Amino acid sequence: MPVKPVARIESSEELNMCGIVGTVGKADATPILLEGLSRLEYRGYDSAGVAVVQDGKLCVEKAKGRLDNLRGRLKERPLGGTLGIGHTRWATHGEPSDVNSHPHTDVKGEIAVVHNGIIENYAQLKRFLEREGCAFVSSTDTEVIAHLINYYDKGDIRRAIEQALHRIEGSYALGIICQREPDTLYCVRKDSPLVVGLGEEQQFIASDIPAILSHTRDVYFLNDREIAVLKADGVAVYDAYGRRRTDLQPFHVDWDVASAEKGGYPHFMLKEIMEEPRALSETLRSHVDLTSLTIQQEGMPDAEEARALERVFIVACGTAYHAGVVGKYALEQLTGLSVTVDIASEYRYRPQKLGKGDLFLVISQSGETADTLAALREAKRQGAKVAAITNVVGSSVAREADRVLYTWAGPEIAVASTKAYITQLLLLTLLGVDLALKRGEMDEKAARELLREMQALPEKAQKTVETHERMQRFAARHFDLRHVFYIGRGMDWALAMEASLKLKEISYIFSEAYAAGELKHGTIALIEPGTLVVALCTQSALLEKMRSNIKEVRARGASVLCVQRESDGKAEADIADKTWFIPDAPDLLMPMLAVIPMQLLAYYMAVSKGCDVDKPRNLAKSVTVE
Ligand code: M6R
Repeated sequence: MPVKPVARIESSEELNMCGIVGTVGKADATPILLEGLSRLEYRGYDSAGVAVVQDGKLCVEKAKGRLDNLRGRLKERPLGGTLGIGHTRWATHGEPSDVNSHPHTDVKGEIAVVHNGIIENYAQLKRFLEREGCAFVSSTDTEVIAHLINYYDKGDIRRAIEQALHRIEGSYALGIICQREPDTLYCVRKDSPLVVGLGEEQQFIASDIPAILSHTRDVYFLNDREIAVLKADGVAVYDAYGRRRTDLQPFHVDWDVASAEKGGYPHFMLKEIMEEPRALSETLRSHVDLTSLTIQQEGMPDAEEARALERVFIVACGTAYHAGVVGKYALEQLTGLSVTVDIASEYRYRPQKLGKGDLFLVISQSGETADTLAALREAKRQGAKVAAITNVVGSSVAREADRVLYTWAGPEIAVASTKAYITQLLLLTLLGVDLALKRGEMDEKAARELLREMQALPEKAQKTVETHERMQRFAARHFDLRHVFYIGRGMDWALAMEASLKLKEISYIFSEAYAAGELKHGTIALIEPGTLVVALCTQSALLEKMRSNIKEVRARGASVLCVQRESDGKAEADIADKTWFIPDAPDLLMPMLAVIPMQLLAYYMAVSKGCDVDKPRNLAKSVTVE
């Protein structure tokens, strides 16, 4: 039975990294903060903390690990007060630790800040503030915000926040309290979700609705750069120019907690697919200076190492392995290097002799996959320098690798990996461009051109995810199939593997991915009238060949769904039963767009069959055993 997605809620569609809760009013803040944080636990976190103004003094308590660790500390040292902010942290800058947990305070310990997002120019701001005499205690980007507000504080906190924000580049949702204003909670957002909860004598802020749903169902979604000032008896919102808004339109939430956690979507998987445009832009923003179109060097091999490279080994499992196969095509094409991709559980029993000219790269969303870790350790045992692509700061892979390239997909909760895959592809391509530049295989002009095309990807991905209702209708007509074949050539074959895995793991429909040219060597015998063949046709140079393959399978009765770029016109529309058009991009980047309809197809087939999409049978999100 097809499931209709619930209405789009802007703030919940964005990436949820850290969790923010705040309150001001008549009630004791700490229990409200702890309850709110526990409602955000489902999103994953590595540390938690609260700040409360108690008897005119700002008090902070924070702890690495589970929320229970924080609860334990608060039992030993209870914090009472009616103004407070709380935070669950998903580490971005700096490892998970007590000191890196939020809230962060200014030098005087009078202003506390919780933050969700990334401050891109934090290093620059940190240098400036250090020159002004600020001593930093954490390695987070957030701490600069507390110091900066203090720097501009001449008695009017809202003004100081405005001035600080003028200096900050990046994305943020912020909750801010100050000890000399024990009745006021400030918050502001830009490109990161933040919702204000409106109560009778108690007001709230949260990065996501479930955190405050037990207290209020009337919320206001802050717009970018709006500052909200909350007091017990009400909320005032100011626009980016400091003008008070008088036309606020609160939203009444009638979802239950379970659908609120999913941002109104029926499943995490659909929510995470919808987050892909933003995951792409966050990942790009974190690794590329978008003004000069140059690649940031953190995590990249240095020039000497890049020039000395002879071979690249990529090792991973499941979806991350499939990303590695796409990466092989990208890296080989960009750098001319020979790239070997291995499934980690295979690699660990046939390790290669690694030498100085080898780059060993592991890919893992969770950073905890046992086989991938074992391969990493084996490579290190042989003295190789290991690079990693992972989504989880402080994970085992991140800690043990010599250099790390982080994907900024945000926590991925559905077992089926979607937004992590797309960001892994982006990073592999970036790595290819960086190596190609350093090895003289690509000139700066060509690199900038490709980076510009990458910059356009989030918008194209947005256009692509918006086709989801059409895919829902397509799936509703095909979900009772017993098997599905995916064919492609080059990068499309690599993508076909991932498309096939997605379908089988959540819908339990048998499916296989074939290199289209290989069909006639045996597999075409399986094609019979009514067999669904998904033909991926996004690679310009291979289009004619794919056209022939489509004809071959249709001649045997297959029904063909062809995925192709818009500019390739109507040719396939004439020879396939259904054509799915996706926006144009250079061949190298097409998998990042073509994977979206494939994920949506798998999702809606599974939903149509009534499967437990987010928790498919026999599978776990993180495979930490061999
Ligand atoms: O966390 P990792 O990326 O290391 O996980 C690897 C695989 O277990 C994972 O990709 C798995 O295949 C997913 N269920 C695919 O959707």
